[in-house]
Amino acid sequence: MEKYRNKILEGNCVEVMKKFDDNFIDLTLTSPPYDNLRTYKGFVFPFEEIAQELYRITKEGGIVVWVVNDATIKGSETGTSFKQALYFNEIGFNLHDTMIFQKTNPIPQIYRKRYNGIFEYMFVFSKGKVKTHNPIKIDCLHAGLQLNGTTYKNYSKGEQKRGKMAKPVKKQKIKGNIWEYVVGKKKEDQAAKGHPAPFPMALARDHINSWTNEGDLVLDPMNGSGTTCLSALQLGRDYVGIDMSKEYCELAKSRIEEFEQQPRLFREESTAYNNV
Ligand SMILES: C[S@@+](CC[C@H](N)C(=O)[O-])C[C@H]1O[C@@H](n2cnc3c(N)ncnc32)[C@H](O)[C@@H]1O
Repeated sequence: MEKYRNKILEGNCVEVMKKFDDNFIDLTLTSPPYDNLRTYKGFVFPFEEIAQELYRITKEGGIVVWVVNDATIKGSETGTSFKQALYFNEIGFNLHDTMIFQKTNPIPQIYRKRYNGIFEYMFVFSKGKVKTHNPIKIDCLHAGLQLNGTTYKNYSKGEQKRGKMAKPVKKQKIKGNIWEYVVGKKKEDQAAKGHPAPFPMALARDHINSWTNEGDLVLDPMNGSGTTCLSALQLGRDYVGIDMSKEYCELAKSRIEEFEQQPRLFREESTAYNNV
């Protein structure tokens, strides 16, 4: 199995994943082709087989993050994203969290009697009980505020039978499940521009940090420009990337090689990005 570690593999992901052992992967972070919205370099997409292979190769307690959206066909959203989420659930995964990837710079839409689509789903599936969660924390707006005379009961309108006095507001809290990113604008994301739909690097970093520890193995079976694998490498995780397109595999390899030649530069840049 070691021969697949830290490799970008060209091929149909179902066929490649069949070569992997059971319980091999800690985290899969991936984004499938959305309802044929884009033409990649020619692909076949056997969704159900992909989901089944992912279940087999995911470690107990491991996670699959499936970033997806629907096409609108003849006036109706297809609902493919939900159908896929329910299928993952049917074959044994827990639907652990339905998260939202909100774009701060969405593509403007022509008016079609609906609001501008500014998000994609990030379905988080777990195989059994989640084994790793390193939650991202954010500052509380009212840190330190004392709520004199307030009980938890006041907050919950009496539904919870808790009369305990509320503590001062904490400094930090766990981030919510709507995550906002700018798409394609940051310098680190520009390197993926040979691909039509790369993830923001920051999105990949946030999931990898949340669901894995250093040394864990991260998979992207529809790897595209290699954002997941590059982020995993930068964060001290191992990676496996698979894509049907030779051209995208070359792009992913070149991004990884560039990082390997200048890791110090990355550290300075990513610290700056995380502070934005
Ligand atoms: C939405 S893109 C992924 C982009 C990627 N997250 C990134 O950051 O660049 C989907 C990718 O899936 C690949 N693909 C589609 N069907 C595939 C299959 N059956 N096996 C492997 N790759 C496939 C396409 O070539 C395309 O690059």
